[in-house]
Amino acid sequence: MVRFDENKGFSRHKLDRIMNIEIIDIPKNEKKQGNIAIIENNTVPFEIKRVYYLYDIPSSAKRGGHSHKSIQQVLIAISGSFDVILKDGISSEKITLNKPDKGLLIKNNIWRELENFSSGAVCLVLASAVYDEEDYIRNFKEYLKSKK
Ligand code: TYD
Repeated sequence: MVRFDENKGFSRHKLDRIMNIEIIDIPKNEKKQGNIAIIENNTVPFEIKRVYYLYDIPSSAKRGGHSHKSIQQVLIAISGSFDVILKDGISSEKITLNKPDKGLLIKNNIWRELENFSSGAVCLVLASAVYDEEDYIRNFKEYLKSKK
């Protein structure tokens, strides 16, 4: 299912799965000479307060392994590919990110694990708040309890 919300200006695909997973189409300028993907204020459904990126990630590495109480994030495979496993306490979904113009929106209270990084993979993260360790739940049992 594809939805374009003209008011907010961002284009989102709702994947037809059990969990409410949304892929954001990042607007781009495509030319023979190469492409530009453009993230502006209205590209994602929250105000961006922090940008960080994971790089030089060994292929055997497992990242994530936590949820956020209130922070929302958009993950983009700026280069290469990796898998994101999302859990909401009921279902689990694996999404492969491998396109620099697609962003995976992870709302708050979703457990995420990142794995299977390709050589040279870079994961860009746009976050709705600055770093706050208090916002993390890093224990899956605790996460499940928080969902009850
Ligand atoms: P973490 O978010 O657990 O990484 P990942 O989910 O990618 O595996 O962060 C790893 C460490 O880096 C942790 O000790 C906190 C620190 N960190 C910051 O200081 N600021 C940040 O913005 C981020 C994302 C992490």
